[in-house]
Amino acid sequence: MKIQKFKKRIGLIGFGCVGQGLYDVVDANRHLGWEIGSICVKDKDKSRSLPASAFTYDVQEVLQDQSIDIIAELISDPKEALGILRQALQQGKTVVSANKKVVAENLPELIQLQQRHGGVLLYEASVCGSIPVLRTLEAYYGSEPLVEVRGILNGSSNYILSKLHAERGSFQSALAQAQELGFAEADPSLDVEGTDALHKLCIMAAHAYGLLVHPDEVLHFGIQHVATEAVELATALNCRIKLVGSLKATATGQVALQVLPTLIPEGDALYDVEAEFNGLEIEGQFAGKQFLKGRGAGSHPTGSAVWADVAAAVRGYRYTYPKLCTSQATATSGDEQLTILLQGEAKRLAQVLEQLQPAIQHQTPDQSQVILSLTPQELRLHQGLLKQHGIFVAAIPARVALDIVPEVLDRAEAIPIGSL
Ligand SMILES: NC(=O)c1ccc[n+]([C@@H]2O[C@H](COP(=O)([O-])OP(=O)(O)OC[C@H]3O[C@@H](n4cnc5c(N)ncnc54)[C@H](OP(=O)(O)O)[C@@H]3O)[C@@H](O)[C@H]2O)c1
Repeated sequence: MKIQKFKKRIGLIGFGCVGQGLYDVVDANRHLGWEIGSICVKDKDKSRSLPASAFTYDVQEVLQDQSIDIIAELISDPKEALGILRQALQQGKTVVSANKKVVAENLPELIQLQQRHGGVLLYEASVCGSIPVLRTLEAYYGSEPLVEVRGILNGSSNYILSKLHAERGSFQSALAQAQELGFAEADPSLDVEGTDALHKLCIMAAHAYGLLVHPDEVLHFGIQHVATEAVELATALNCRIKLVGSLKATATGQVALQVLPTLIPEGDALYDVEAEFNGLEIEGQFAGKQFLKGRGAGSHPTGSAVWADVAAAVRGYRYTYPKLCTSQATATSGDEQLTILLQGEAKRLAQVLEQLQPAIQHQTPDQSQVILSLTPQELRLHQGLLKQHGIFVAAIPARVALDIVPEVLDRAEAIPIGSL
């Protein structure tokens, strides 16, 4: 077979962490015939690793350039990014993006634009960096019903939780270390409040279950209020706290979605996903469980995922959303009873409990931690109240041995089940 040599040009919009990563990957593979055309950035005064002549500050110079075969949208401004994706797709162009917020919040429109104008949008890099999640869900599991998809989807919060377990320091000092090492943004709110994981979960829902759901409709809590006491409780129960995003088929044909800090017992595949790594367990009805683990962020890992999309798109690959065509799935938070740990300042926790009126199973004598039963729907209903009072919320899976909880919560005086 004769291999045809080709020359393809990429229009790069954004030259920060991911844009530079893509540039390096393309540069290291020049023999394959790819080149970066114009590079669009915003700040005219920033010092760059390339000569000034490589850059433009006008996005239209990239969007209107007829010599460009594919556009890589890798900017940090979601509003501007949405405008770029809209314009490129309205022109029937091929574009790749790493922007999970924009994709998660606008997926129905972005799919419609592709259908109407014939353009292509790929966004593998937006979910778990270097791990090929979407292509696995879409191309491999496109026909198989999935029992559950759950994983650690945010490297910054996982790094912080790993630090807390290893060193028992404060949340603030673990966050500062994550920022120093470049694992967390200067504004870490999207990461630690669970919103970044939520965006990834909503994108996965479209490919795993054919479900289009807006992030605002999904139960989610973050790790911003976690304290040493909760880490100690988890450790004593042979668990590690992880921020877990999950999609699960319910008995009634719905899909239960949630992002919740969870006590993960030793032996669970997610237990050993540490530091900035991400991990995803996919359980198919017939295939059983598969586990994917890798770097969820960073310049070269994410640049590699963008590059994989660029190369696939040029060879004609596009998402077909196979389950969107066949599924009638609707979203739910879920109504099975969960065992939940609430931890916070005693007075504020008492105010929350007064409104929740839950069935309490255990409470520490200092009243800063309680274990109780709630359904995800109840949690979602009271999401605002719990967040407003600075309460850390974590799920405790059924297989965690709760009979030792009283001993652990306070070795002498925990208040046992049924006595409140
Ligand atoms: N960092 C990661 O590990 C990672 C992983 C997965 C996905 N992502 C996603 O990838 C995207 C880029 O993230 P990043 O970490 O590379 O961000 P970043 O390091 O902050 O870089 C952002 C780049 O976007 C440019 N930019 C911002 N607004 C612009 C505008 N209006 N017009 C043109 N250029 C503009 C900036 O220009 P200047 O250089 O002039 O400031 C900069 O080059 C985001 O959507 C992010 O969520 C990031």
